[in-house]
Amino acid sequence: MLVYEGKAKRVFSTDDEQVFRIEYKDEVTAGNGAKKDKMEGKGRLNNLITSHFFERLQKEGLESHFIKRLSETEQLVKKVEIIPLEVVVRNVAAGSIVKRLGFEKGQAFDAPLVEFYYKKDELNDPFISDDHVKLLHIANDEDIKELKRQALQVNETLIKIMNEMNLTLVDFKIEFGKDKDGKILLADEISPDTCRIWDKETKENFDKDVYREDTGSLIDTYTKFLTKLEEI
Ligand code: TMP
Repeated sequence: MLVYEGKAKRVFSTDDEQVFRIEYKDEVTAGNGAKKDKMEGKGRLNNLITSHFFERLQKEGLESHFIKRLSETEQLVKKVEIIPLEVVVRNVAAGSIVKRLGFEKGQAFDAPLVEFYYKKDELNDPFISDDHVKLLHIANDEDIKELKRQALQVNETLIKIMNEMNLTLVDFKIEFGKDKDGKILLADEISPDTCRIWDKETKENFDKDVYREDTGSLIDTYTKFLTKLEEI
């Protein structure tokens, strides 16, 4: 049974009450749905890439909602209650932080920066402080600490993978959920839809910016990224 449909995925219940099946869709959106297209093969690419990342994170000791990849476009995951935060980690200035705070695009940060954005479409997912997170009863001090710890651990592992591919991990967005015991687990997806990735030498984009900025074919870009990922 369909439990939830988002912009890029559908979530279905299974015979096991604690397990969901996720289907990746061939849809791509940008700017909170302002730009939208159907692209054949995109669901497959993001499912394969996300599964690869979650498996590698698991090997490095970071548990997530991921159980296993079921098919080219589907995964089995643990049921979690999604925490309404987009957790963004930035290593290099790009995107909204350039516009908002005047950093120069491409400037490397002294240390990774973790930010919280409130997941609320009607408010356009605004940036919020730790105090706002507490005020909105989204998470307490202990949860905030755990979210940041896991976000930085994901960053470390992703950087390792990108280095092996001769790529720079500029920034990325992740989401977390709580399982039935209240444990915080990494959830959602990690794909070129949710990361900024640049070639170390040419600075060529391997991410959704090619779609956001109309600079190339999204399918070709993601296919190239998956091929590189499978080579390491
Ligand atoms: P930003 O520079 O637009 O704030 O985005 C930071 C990173 O988060 C970038 O890798 C894209 C990703 N992101 C999402 O995956 N979904 C979103 O809704 C937003 C705003 C950003």
